[in-house]
Amino acid sequence: MQGKPIINGVWSSHWIFIFAATGSAIGLGNVLKFPYLVSSNGGGAFILLYLVCLLLVGTPIMIAEVFIGRSKRQNPVYAIRNILQESGCSGRWSFVALAGVLSGFLIFSFYSVVIGWVLSYVVGISTGDFIGIGMQEAKQVFYQLRDTPETILRWHSFVVFVVMLIIVGGVNRGLENAIKFLMPVLFILLAALLGYALQTGNFTKGFYLLFSIDFSKLGWDSVLSALKHAFFTLSIGVGVMMAYGAYMPKQASIGSSIFLIVLLDMLIALLAGLAILPMMITNNMEPAYGMDLMFVTLPVAFGHMQAGQTIGFIFFLLVTTVALTSAISLMEPVTTWLSEHWGWSRLPTCIFLGIMVWAFGVTALGSFSFLSHVEIMGFNLFYFYDFVATNIIMPLVGLFVAILAGWIVNKRILSEELAMKSVFVFNLWHITVRYISPLAVGSIVYFMLVEKLSY
Ligand code: TRP
Repeated sequence: MQGKPIINGVWSSHWIFIFAATGSAIGLGNVLKFPYLVSSNGGGAFILLYLVCLLLVGTPIMIAEVFIGRSKRQNPVYAIRNILQESGCSGRWSFVALAGVLSGFLIFSFYSVVIGWVLSYVVGISTGDFIGIGMQEAKQVFYQLRDTPETILRWHSFVVFVVMLIIVGGVNRGLENAIKFLMPVLFILLAALLGYALQTGNFTKGFYLLFSIDFSKLGWDSVLSALKHAFFTLSIGVGVMMAYGAYMPKQASIGSSIFLIVLLDMLIALLAGLAILPMMITNNMEPAYGMDLMFVTLPVAFGHMQAGQTIGFIFFLLVTTVALTSAISLMEPVTTWLSEHWGWSRLPTCIFLGIMVWAFGVTALGSFSFLSHVEIMGFNLFYFYDFVATNIIMPLVGLFVAILAGWIVNKRILSEELAMKSVFVFNLWHITVRYISPLAVGSIVYFMLVEKLSY
């Protein structure tokens, strides 16, 4: 067996694990992608489809990842290598886990750039930069920020510094303290936004847009989107859940913790939708997507509504919190892997990784300015990192994890570690992770590659 078990410690309670994993799962995807996906794919119809994907793909694979982490209590790469070897397979396949761990690095580099944008909006909105602003003007403000590397460089450096400062503290002093502070802040900010949305008078309209069921808008594309989102939102395929699972107390039940995390993630995505949609309806806006929603449409809405400065400030602070808890989780797997691999303590590992991820981030932020001429497969670097990590590596690692849990690990070992109270639920999980999840995730990879590479 390679490496020693238990290196970094254990979460001081089962709840901290639940909140840390929830913090990782709730990210930019919940606030930006989900409300749009729902409102443009038939509302409640999409939510139902998405629930099915969460149950058949997201949850089973997430359980498998936490199982891998907790049963070995090592970094994701070593844990997978040991599990493979114990099951009589070649440990070399653990390079798939390594790809996942390193892809966290890719995601972090553009996540940090986006957090930089968000932070500069926190400042901009609260100082009144957006009062009465028009759509065109708002677009200009955003594009100028995006295309001027100096400002973002400062924010990006700040974000890398803060995240590494948290990571260097280790599981209990660093991650746990950050989670204990950030998660309550996140809930309070979301509650404040919802309270406001309830008063706008368009809450019911937003509610209907989100929940009214229209099956005619569902197509194959919706199925693929729901599948991909279920996967993305739970932060599977990067080793985060394995790394966090490695610090999970032994007596806690993996199955019920994961159900709770999935439920919270879903609930917060819906609440974010309920907070955002009424503001857009009040300002007669079409639900926009992603970056434009956050950096153009919403700021215009804030600029025209009562108390917009405060509400806008709360909104961007919420997005910062949501993104920060995910960013921290992104760096944990690569940090534990590297420090165990090289036998370095946390401090030098974090300094090294901080410099690396900072440099990577510079290429991501430069892809709108001094590196805009670099294109790979039609993407600039920023979007290319996103594409490779979220559409290829994450699903591939997910597929691998499903095969590992469904086909390779001995069923008795699984059942002992998971210790589910109901044999029926355990068998249901095992059948799903053995047959259904791999097929579904395999289809994401297949469609992504066919779609992108066949032109
Ligand atoms: N779950 C995050 C979101 O919804 C995004 C994400 C995907 C992520 N994979 C991750 C975050 C790994 C942290 C770690 O936005």
